[in-house]
Amino acid sequence: MTQRKMRIGLSIRGYGYHPAAWRHPDVPADGTFHVEHYIRSTQIAERGKLDMIFFADGAGIRKVDTPPGSLERSAYDLVEMEPMTLLPALAMVTQRVGLVTTASTTYNEPFNLARKFATLDQISNGRAGWNVVASWSGWEAQNFGLDGTLDYETRYARSEEFVEVVRGLWDSWDPDAFLFDKESGRYFDPTKMRVLNHKGKFFSVRGPLNVARLPQGHPVIVQAGASDRGRELGARTADVIYAIQDSVERCRAYYADVKGRMAKYGRAPDELKILPAICPVVGRTRAEAQAKYDQLQALIDPLVGLSRIYNTFGDLSGYDLDAPLPIDALGDLELRSLSEQFVEQVRRERPTIREAYLRAGVTGSARIGTPADIADEMQHWFETGACDGFNVTPATLPGGGEDFVNMVVPELQRRGLFRLEYEGTTLRQNLGLKPHPGAAAPQPGTTQSAAA
Ligand SMILES: Cc1cc2nc3c(=O)[nH]c(=O)nc-3n(C[C@H](O)[C@H](O)[C@H](O)COP(=O)(O)O)c2cc1C
Repeated sequence: MTQRKMRIGLSIRGYGYHPAAWRHPDVPADGTFHVEHYIRSTQIAERGKLDMIFFADGAGIRKVDTPPGSLERSAYDLVEMEPMTLLPALAMVTQRVGLVTTASTTYNEPFNLARKFATLDQISNGRAGWNVVASWSGWEAQNFGLDGTLDYETRYARSEEFVEVVRGLWDSWDPDAFLFDKESGRYFDPTKMRVLNHKGKFFSVRGPLNVARLPQGHPVIVQAGASDRGRELGARTADVIYAIQDSVERCRAYYADVKGRMAKYGRAPDELKILPAICPVVGRTRAEAQAKYDQLQALIDPLVGLSRIYNTFGDLSGYDLDAPLPIDALGDLELRSLSEQFVEQVRRERPTIREAYLRAGVTGSARIGTPADIADEMQHWFETGACDGFNVTPATLPGGGEDFVNMVVPELQRRGLFRLEYEGTTLRQNLGLKPHPGAAAPQPGTTQSAAA
């Protein structure tokens, strides 16, 4: 029997996932203004045979100057290129790596997004993926004529209908709908065009999509919601779930819960890949790895640190940074699933304020060690029912991604846990997902007509 392989994505947003990443001497401080920065990280991912690159995203700056003075010191999640526009450029300089971006169901219309992802799938020959998010931030809302974000139930209900419409639009054309018959003059067969005529609570969309059938049929659907509603939606509709869990036990429980919900939708557990975030800081020795991490931690400005725990705990700038965090100063928990784990950890361990913000430093669990240490940890999660692979959230870019690919990937390959070569050409194939029944047949017609 062939050994089960990990699926691995590389999150290439911004400067990396450490809040002080942009200040690191090896990180170009204006990197996110230049396409070359993103190209470099994408090509690193492909060199490492990773399944996909992944963009988290928000429609605007999702933070304010709290505490005062923190915003001007923050580069993480501040300004960057718009990923939907960026991905086609990245598609042109790669051949195999999957191209996944977050796009909001609150601040888009289904027709527009269906069309963009369809086109990305065509440009990249079947490597597109969509991370469906319902957008939690009130700051984004203000960029779209709203005072605040939609309520939780409405966001989710809209999101569910949104995905249904997009999927319907992707099925607008049967794989053999286009005839290209110059002789008869018929371009397509109208019996193979499907007009959606969707009328729902949130959307009214006639269709069909004015983009032909996609190489993958449907791009890969990623989801990142961890509440009960989010889990149910993931179990029903997602191909991949991006998870953030801070311990293997918690992730195992999450994995069992979500996979356990799939049977009632007629889905086998393997039709969904659960990939938790991991932030590896790798060194040839443990001391080297620790030194790399310490260097980054020392670069966190206290105001930036405090801003990262502001949403959860409120303004702590008046307190002694080295005194225990006053848990009664708790703010509201708008980003529910992400905050809960952190609050619980603070209750349990009673860190000082400085310790708390230093811990909040990265997205995903920081793993500091040698390639073997990191691979041990990943293998442990993978083989004890906690995940199907990982979404790597490197501390810095491109360096953190490069370290992972240069040092950890060969170790995983040596252990037989990760591919030596891409198995397929599409993201769906490489992730080991079932082909979508509507995947477009190879289209020799295009080249024939070019030659004609
Ligand atoms: C791992 C993870 C990654 C997320 N990434 C994004 C993102 O890139 N952009 C965004 O607007 N929301 C993102 N979200 C927020 C979710 O879309 C969702 O709005 C939020 O988690 C609340 O839903 P929940 O309670 O079901 O988790 C993310 C959530 C999680 C758990």
